[in-house]
Amino acid sequence: MPSTTAAKNKSAGETDFLPLLGTDYIEFYVGNAKQAAHYYITAFGFTPWAYAGPETGVKDRASYVVRQNKLTFVLTSSIKNGTPVADHVYKHGDGVKALALLVDDARAAWKETTGRGAESYMEPAVLKDKEGEVVLSGIRLYGDTVHVFVERKNYTGAFMPGYVSWTIPHFQIKETGLQYVDHCVGNVGWYQMNRWVKFYEDTMGFKNILSFDDEDISTEYSALMSKVMSNENGFVKFPINEPAEGKKKSQVEEYLEFYNGEGVQHIALATNDIVATIKELMSRGVEFLRVPTTYYDDLMSRVGHIDEDLEPLKELGILVDRDNEGYLLQLFSKPVEDRPTLFFEIIQRKGAKSFGKGNFKALFEAMEREQALRGNL
Ligand code: FE2
Repeated sequence: MPSTTAAKNKSAGETDFLPLLGTDYIEFYVGNAKQAAHYYITAFGFTPWAYAGPETGVKDRASYVVRQNKLTFVLTSSIKNGTPVADHVYKHGDGVKALALLVDDARAAWKETTGRGAESYMEPAVLKDKEGEVVLSGIRLYGDTVHVFVERKNYTGAFMPGYVSWTIPHFQIKETGLQYVDHCVGNVGWYQMNRWVKFYEDTMGFKNILSFDDEDISTEYSALMSKVMSNENGFVKFPINEPAEGKKKSQVEEYLEFYNGEGVQHIALATNDIVATIKELMSRGVEFLRVPTTYYDDLMSRVGHIDEDLEPLKELGILVDRDNEGYLLQLFSKPVEDRPTLFFEIIQRKGAKSFGKGNFKALFEAMEREQALRGNL
């Protein structure tokens, strides 16, 4: 969608100084990108798209780009010691480095955000090959995480200059129905949530559209607080969590300890048919959190009529929540690496624009059972 549409949604006199067209890609720094890419292809149904590494003139790293519908993941690992990628993995384990945002003008995005106080990660740079050009720029976010602004309107090649097309001959790939990034959640340190809320407001023009306090998000043992930040057109949403006082260690504290700092906690991936997508993901070995079957006893009285049959939801452990505008179905994976850090949410929205507040308690109790098994509660 062109940036002018975003600007039109503003009330008279205001213009969106950072029009975002959506998420461009998410880059993960991992220990072994070749195998991580295979996991996202086989388990999550992504298709190989592009590659950069020693064979393409990149001497210190290898990057595999996979995609599914509007989702693009980049899996990058270092092939040498002492590089920024190697250091990142040494410190954090596998995790999200860059949340890249699609823009019409990456130079303007950098100028507007850094001019408002964001710290530069990458000055605007033009990458060119025979397929055209991509302009990149970037700013620093919580922890070692960054936002990269990607301008690709003048590029027709695979991913971006520096990459070559990548396919795996004879490999039968079947997608799982994952469509686009719904939201990406960051975990920040004690009392840091409002600092990052202000960062999104001041430097990127985002609005705080929802807030959850420790009353909303607490179990018998632990608590957290969360604020959801959204850009002007609502294409990009970043909730920010911080730990809150509880009897025991909260899941956010466990994350901060094992990630060795602040970072991306989960990425919510949208599907148009959550039952089919979850069945497919489970059949390929993706593991999900389970809530007790008693969750379904009063589900219908809590959420009212839904189009889906209850039985498959119950069998797969899919959660349902309703707000004023409709309902949503969601399910959370277990962490996708050995450190209890990054996980995925699979979400199908049927009108609801919220984040499943009615499920928080059952969900966080399920997380705590896993946390206790790890000896970290
Ligand atoms: Fe979420």
